[in-house]
Amino acid sequence: MNIPFIDLTSQQQKIRPEIDTRIKNVLEHGKYIMGPEINELESALSKRVDANYVISCGSGTDALLLALMGLQLKPGQGVIVPSFTFTASAEVMPLLGAIPIFAEVDEETFTLNPARLQDALDSAIKSAIEVVGIMSVGLFGQPAQMDKINSFAEANGLWVLDDAAQSFGTEFQGAKTGTLAKATCTSFFPAKPLGCYGDGGALFTNDFKIAEIARSCRVHGQGTNKYQTVRLGMTARLDTIQAAILLAKLDVFDKELQQRNAVANYYHELLRSWVETPICYPEMTSSWAVYTVKLPKIVDRVFLQESLSQKGIPTAIYYPIPMHLQKPYEHYPRANYGLEVSEHLAQSVISIPMHPYLTQEAQNTVSEAIIEVIKNSNKR
Ligand SMILES: Cc1ncc(COP(=O)(O)O)c(C=O)c1O
Repeated sequence: MNIPFIDLTSQQQKIRPEIDTRIKNVLEHGKYIMGPEINELESALSKRVDANYVISCGSGTDALLLALMGLQLKPGQGVIVPSFTFTASAEVMPLLGAIPIFAEVDEETFTLNPARLQDALDSAIKSAIEVVGIMSVGLFGQPAQMDKINSFAEANGLWVLDDAAQSFGTEFQGAKTGTLAKATCTSFFPAKPLGCYGDGGALFTNDFKIAEIARSCRVHGQGTNKYQTVRLGMTARLDTIQAAILLAKLDVFDKELQQRNAVANYYHELLRSWVETPICYPEMTSSWAVYTVKLPKIVDRVFLQESLSQKGIPTAIYYPIPMHLQKPYEHYPRANYGLEVSEHLAQSVISIPMHPYLTQEAQNTVSEAIIEVIKNSNKR
């Protein structure tokens, strides 16, 4: 049995007629750039998240860039960002001439550790860097501890930008992701919980100025008309056809989130005596974008991956190298007292198949294969 890591085929079979109709409509009206589906999607997302402004765009990375432009991040200024994350979270600061300050994550939740933010701030101050903001990341599908991060930010006069590329669709203390920070970004990359059939992303904010600048930067820094340029920008629009696909997928998104939760709960049951299963605090929900466990020290991760692969079970390592150890980022400041947790997680995590259509039978197969390797490791 070959178990897909992410199963987009089963989803497509369920909603194929809606997708076909949506695509056909776009082909018929022919407005491939900023067609009516863009407005329809932005309105639907705005209603869903309770955010006043939604700016759809070309990717999650574009959304982060547009947000930082909207926040008027200047060259030389610093932004605190977790080291244990996907490249894009840190990439966008240097692209604007700014400086990522690498901070530590929480061992249990994988997200930014609020108790270690001061270390990152102190390290930046020591390097005479003016820190203006914090980027939280909803890693693997669950929001960071936004109340504590926001309190720290407020006490230090910083803004918070939430990278919710993986955590769109979740809630923290009853508020929706999209409204937990000054601005929030998500990705519609196909493998994301809400993904299109190409690249896509969106920025959410209640701040008029951020929205105004981001909307202008999305189209070359456009002013009140097409040929007036008021600032530097880029081409970062979402394709109409991708908006059409997302509208079809939005109809099943809530059901899929429930299914993802059921899959996660069953994995917890099967695996919690053998590996460290992911923790989601009761005050938040997770989209379970990825199901990542921590392996006991005795388990050889490469051997485990090979054993599972031979049985048709794909795995992935998110992320094998923390950002502060990646070549382009080595010279940027890191939190005082080191980033041991990020480094340890990079060595000990493994992600296993997770999608809304994963059957309990497939989950049993995955878990049995993992447990077998752990039992044999114990004997060695
Ligand atoms: C945490 C995080 N941030 C940003 C991104 C960037 O999104 P995109 O690939 O749509 O540019 C991703 C995508 O994998 C991500 O996982």
